[in-house]
Amino acid sequence: MDQTDNSIGKNYAYEIKGGVPLKGNIDISGSKNAALGVIAASIMVDGACTLENVPDILDVHVMLDLLKTLGATVDKIDNHTFRINPTTINTYKASGPLVSRIRASYYLMGALLGRCGKASIRLPGGCNFGTRPIDLHLKAFQLMGATGANPSDINSGTVNLEANPLHGARIYLDIVSVGATINAMLAACKAQGVTEIINAAKEPHIVDVANFLNSMGARIKGAGTDIIKITGVPVLPGNFTYSIIPDQIEAGTYMIAAAVTDGDVTIHNLIPTHMEPLSAKMREMGYTIEEGDESIRVYRENVEQELYPATVKTSPYPGFPTDLQPQTVVLLCSANGQSRMHENVWQNRFQYVPELAKMGANIDVYERIALVNGKTSFRGATVEATDLRAGAAMVCAALEASGTTYIMNAQRIDRGYEHIVQKLTDLGANIRRVNDVPEYGEEDTEA
Ligand code: EPZ
Repeated sequence: MDQTDNSIGKNYAYEIKGGVPLKGNIDISGSKNAALGVIAASIMVDGACTLENVPDILDVHVMLDLLKTLGATVDKIDNHTFRINPTTINTYKASGPLVSRIRASYYLMGALLGRCGKASIRLPGGCNFGTRPIDLHLKAFQLMGATGANPSDINSGTVNLEANPLHGARIYLDIVSVGATINAMLAACKAQGVTEIINAAKEPHIVDVANFLNSMGARIKGAGTDIIKITGVPVLPGNFTYSIIPDQIEAGTYMIAAAVTDGDVTIHNLIPTHMEPLSAKMREMGYTIEEGDESIRVYRENVEQELYPATVKTSPYPGFPTDLQPQTVVLLCSANGQSRMHENVWQNRFQYVPELAKMGANIDVYERIALVNGKTSFRGATVEATDLRAGAAMVCAALEASGTTYIMNAQRIDRGYEHIVQKLTDLGANIRRVNDVPEYGEEDTEA
């Protein structure tokens, strides 16, 4: 039983006895990155709203707790449904330790600036794979009339923004940025006038946040394209219900887990078109991917048939998602020959490779390119979840591995995967949470 509620701040490990092909059916939960944006966007509402299909994961618990620290009323209807009333918010400041636990806390900048013309927010946290600047966020706020948005204005790790009033602007994003796109949308939806975000990110979660804002009375057009146009409105009435889209990255992770174990799994409650970059690559390698209306079945007609190597290049949606990069490198290890992974979004997102090498992987990294020399059959080891998606990659490798693997700092995985132990157990995996890990080379002990 993996209780994530009481895991905040606790370190623990996953013990996985690999070599079992995953079989059966699982349901995908709500999207972490959509839920984080939508929860922040609920601050803009002039009334209450109910959110459904909210994933039961650590990062969402932190974001909901952040709203409570601002004075918002958050009522838990069940593990996946929350009623939020932001009209009780009594501050524009968020500087406690919770803010630096997640990256998405930066959405409080756009939301509070948009709601009350002021925001004083501690710099965010999040996975560490290179510098994670917020210059584009600040540029958007500055163009809309906010003061304190120069990087030089940031003092002692807190951003202090003020705009009376916020006005519409034409914002060109030099780099496609999910966070800057969402933050600018939040600030713009009640600003005076029209805002255009050019070179906007197009991820499914951007569209979900825009749909949520529109359903509460905002006027946003073009989400999902390069140019998003927001016409500011004075009031955003509430009292409605919104359901979060399925998690594209969780779905892709389970597609890969099924594939690397030579299993046969049908993944339900997903949007197949969101999975196209991964589905196409897996077909290229030799897997069979069968699409239903809201499901994908992953299997291989002949598990003796060698898998083909591939070249994968991450890029903003509809390109190959960077958040599936580590998991896909594990999949490429199953192919015969050399595959290439190009990480074009983040500066340093191969920090997990030495952990995979402990399990037998043969991968050479040259800055943003990893050369994956397959075929590798993994062996169990004690490894580290260096960040959320790297941890998910270690789970995939451990499921395929012969022997037992211990993944330390597994709480990082629970930041973004709802009840992963239960979901994998339901597919036949031998996985459990443990608090003590045998030292390297010690015999397996019952923890
Ligand atoms: C979001 O991060 C996601 N996090 C990340 O997922 C994901 O990897 C990323 O988008 C790309 O898809 C959340 O949604 C909470 P970006 P974000 O702004 O918004 C540069 C996960 O595993 N950039 O799209 O921080 C930046 O350095 C997490 O769920 C600037 O230069 O990403 C990067 O190279 C990990 N200046 C590129 O843009 C800025 O002001 C894309 O970053 C902002 C970003």
